[in-house]
Amino acid sequence: MVRSGYGNEQAGSTAVVGIASLVTNDPAQGDGSPLGVIREAAVVIEGDRIVWTGESARVPVTDHVSDAGGRAVVPGFVDSHSHLVFAGDRTEEFAARMSGRPYSAGGIRTTVAATRAASDEALSANVARYLAEALRQGTTTFETKSGYGLTVEDEARCLRVAAAHTDEVTYLGAHIVAPEYADDPAGYVDLVTGPMLDACAPYARWVDVFCERGAFDGDAARAILTAGRAKGLVPRVHANQLGHGPGVQLAVELDAASADHCTHLTDADVDALAAGRTVATLLPGAEFSTRAPWPDARRLLDAGATVALSTDCNPGSSFTSSVPFCVALAVRDMGMTPDEALWAATAGGAAALRRDDVGRLAPGARADLVLLDAPSHVHLAYRPGVPLVAGVWRAGRPVVP
Ligand code: NIG
Ligand code: FE
Repeated sequence: MVRSGYGNEQAGSTAVVGIASLVTNDPAQGDGSPLGVIREAAVVIEGDRIVWTGESARVPVTDHVSDAGGRAVVPGFVDSHSHLVFAGDRTEEFAARMSGRPYSAGGIRTTVAATRAASDEALSANVARYLAEALRQGTTTFETKSGYGLTVEDEARCLRVAAAHTDEVTYLGAHIVAPEYADDPAGYVDLVTGPMLDACAPYARWVDVFCERGAFDGDAARAILTAGRAKGLVPRVHANQLGHGPGVQLAVELDAASADHCTHLTDADVDALAAGRTVATLLPGAEFSTRAPWPDARRLLDAGATVALSTDCNPGSSFTSSVPFCVALAVRDMGMTPDEALWAATAGGAAALRRDDVGRLAPGARADLVLLDAPSHVHLAYRPGVPLVAGVWRAGRPVVP
């Protein structure tokens, strides 16, 4: 999250012992399940990496020892989808929605106006605030997007701000058509694929588009994603959130890293996700906050698709930074088992970011550990709304409490 200061502040190796249940996400370890759970476990950290995992009884001698006190340890959460570079507030819109008004992409314009009016310093302070909030809840890898600037200058500065806080930065100039181009949407696509892309690409790793009725259709989305790809950005797509549409199939066709939302899927969409390597990233905070139907995770998992869970943290449709909250929703309402939801929020998020250094706890992986005040990860869904995160190590360094 913060680029400087990585690394274990203690020289030498540290063993975290007394772990009642350790989720490794390495099926070769422990109980042989996809989560690779080791009981009565220990982890050894050296610098920013894990160098050993196994049963506590066999832990090698280390320079330092830290006791987990018989609690559970899971990999740091990988939140692969958020919109944190924004200013302003949409409390009134939320309250109106809870009294019956439907969600529409039009609310994005409110945040665009506030974001354009904010200084870089104010935007950066906002990002830092929500990253700190997420870290306290166990998120150790965070993606975030532009999309509330919608001019060349504002999109570029939003991405510059984002890049100061995380390596996982996404160019979303194609969030909605900028208000100035309301009568010329094709002109806006030219801007997004031309001068805006040129100004933004140096700060971003990913290119995204909101492919939805009221935002960008399939042809525009294809043009935006392929232009981004030609500049070295890897596609990801806001797809099939508010209704059926071409987003999911386009994502798979272009080998996008992820198709995000996936709330309204045809059988052909599910088959495409199962056949391709595009990860289906589900964002239940959005369905919660917009009273929309839940995405059917069970259907995707049964078909063989890779599923990730993320927050979509943004001031409009999902103002939560809590991965544990999303895990609880996914288990309660989307047909996921507690094991599947934990995997989706860790290894699934890593897959959606095409990373293998995070989302798992095995030798060679980055030492991102979350200590839960619970005997197992199942409590994340079993005890919803309870602040169970008792400690976080990021890149080998204790960052919470
Ligand atoms: O992922 N769907 C598009 N973008 C956001 C919502 C943004 C907003 O309402 O401000 C989303 O839900
Ligand atoms: Fe989003």
